[in-house]
Amino acid sequence: MPREILVAPSLLTADFLELSRAIDLVNSSPADWFHLDVMDGRFVPNISFGMAIIARIKTRAVKPLDVHLMIEEPGRYAEAFRQSGADHLTVHYEACPNLHRNLEQIRGLGMKAGVALNPHTPVSLLRDILYLTDIVNLMSVNPGFGAQSFIPHTLDKIRELSAMIHTAQSSTLIEIDGGVTLENAHSIIGAGASVLVAGNTVFSAADPAATILKLKQD
Ligand code: DX5
Ligand code: ZN
Repeated sequence: MPREILVAPSLLTADFLELSRAIDLVNSSPADWFHLDVMDGRFVPNISFGMAIIARIKTRAVKPLDVHLMIEEPGRYAEAFRQSGADHLTVHYEACPNLHRNLEQIRGLGMKAGVALNPHTPVSLLRDILYLTDIVNLMSVNPGFGAQSFIPHTLDKIRELSAMIHTAQSSTLIEIDGGVTLENAHSIIGAGASVLVAGNTVFSAADPAATILKLKQD
């Protein structure tokens, strides 16, 4: 059976003054999840938004909220993000000395648990934690900003992770985050990814819904 390709538009590049329009657009498009990027100005050199905004997005969104925490000590806030409406909670490997505990906590709160890897972090480090991981977010740019260029080495990481998941007979999804375009989506999917995060490609498009559909069909 062909693998289903999911698209998760990142609201980071949407017009924040028109957030409800961006939410409606994603709701009525073929997109699968909302990707929400939380940044603390410490783990990454940028600050975005937090629980209050996510709670407002939740009142209007009709698709799962895929919350990507680019923050230090994410375990301190897991419960608050659950309460604000997160369906998936992704923490960074590099921010979690007690990752096993963090993933158990996230699953215990009823969310899907994700781990994100920065571009320099090898996928082999996930071998002993894959069984607790619903989503692996491979960062294909350095986290902190939208509209950056895809780092080509990510394709090798996708292939390696895909083989690890296959060997472990796991259902973990590979999500690619950063610099996804209509031009590179085909090779990203071909390497084994199932979830495409796309910010700039979707929100700067003349027809965002058609762009989402094209990404899914690539
Ligand atoms: C980057 C974020 C990404 C970003 C993707 O730190 O994690 O989710 O919004 O944006 P594009 O698709 O514009 O690279
Ligand atoms: Zn992200």
